[in-house]
Amino acid sequence: MGQAKIYYDSDADLGVLSNKKIVFLGFGNQGSAQAQNLRDSGISNDQILIANRVDSYAETAKSKGFHVEHDFSTAAEVADVLFILIPDQVQPRVFNEQFSPKLKSDATIVVASGYNVFFNLLKFQPGQDVVMVAPRMIGSSVRSLHEKGRGFPCFVSVEQNGTGKGLDAALALSRAIGATKQGAIASSVREETVMDLFAEQALWPNIIMMFREAFNVLKDAGCSDEALCYEMWMSKEPAEIFERAADDGFVAQLKHHSTVSQYGQLSGSLKLEGGAMREHFKDILYNQILSGKFCEAFSQIEDDLDKEGDTNPLNELYKRSEEMELVKAEKRVRARLAGLL
Ligand code: NAI
Repeated sequence: MGQAKIYYDSDADLGVLSNKKIVFLGFGNQGSAQAQNLRDSGISNDQILIANRVDSYAETAKSKGFHVEHDFSTAAEVADVLFILIPDQVQPRVFNEQFSPKLKSDATIVVASGYNVFFNLLKFQPGQDVVMVAPRMIGSSVRSLHEKGRGFPCFVSVEQNGTGKGLDAALALSRAIGATKQGAIASSVREETVMDLFAEQALWPNIIMMFREAFNVLKDAGCSDEALCYEMWMSKEPAEIFERAADDGFVAQLKHHSTVSQYGQLSGSLKLEGGAMREHFKDILYNQILSGKFCEAFSQIEDDLDKEGDTNPLNELYKRSEEMELVKAEKRVRARLAGLL
């Protein structure tokens, strides 16, 4: 693929939002940040409505002066624009049952993550616009960077252009939440979903596995728990390396390391051809992610993720992970350190 288009404030016309009712479904990490940014951008408070079930998030929205509607069908009926900002796994049920039947036939629907749109889990009408405005930041940073007058990285796309003006709406909304200040990157739900799921299901599992096995091998070679935990992550050296990679360059950051380290890292990585890993990555990408296999399997267990105790599959995975020597050793080290404080 070539270069992606980047949209800036000057590409967006906030005027297309005048007189539009903008509904935020959810006032959590992203909802609270985006709604406040949008209001700060000059959209009147009366144009904004927070659709939220009765919970602490609704109370927070009220305390910040927003209008809050608990009845989702009422919120759906008035929405010209609907930001869907509740957790991904609850979106299909809430949107399809409570919003979709009442939404205007030319409404603009905004998602902050590609997953449910890419896997066709949300029911849209053909005249509606479906756009993605997906910040690459946690909600608190979306808010704090905007308050400092800075932007944040964001992906933007038009997935369904029912009105023919989907891009104008997507760019105006991106600008209103502060996403075009630093440049919003043209993307797609496919690209966003593939990269997210690939990082989660291919890259990071291998990194966790490599740390686990490195720990085991070095422990067998006589290294202490304390030395290993500090050497491998508790010193925050890996965090610093990634920070330097972001600032200076993925490979260029090596110049901050000793000559022995630079030589070891460069010659070692160039020696690894990576063929087996490439095949494994392709298998995850094509047979697990793009085939829809993961999405199907995940939707089977979704409801169990709200359960308490061992019947929650996530708790079960945490329990199994605690059997890793790395985790056991870290617990012992942290307990000793706490005793010293
Ligand atoms: P969150 O977990 O903070 O959502 C909380 C909100 O969802 C609250 O308003 C709560 O009332 C509502 N909610 C929760 N369960 C509900 C249910 N069963 N029925 C009705 N309302 C319910 O969500 P978050 O993390 O802000 O994610 C929202 C979207 O933004 C997702 O699509 C996510 O992928 C995307 N996103 C999130 C990022 C983050 O910083 N966490 C980063 C970029 C995108």
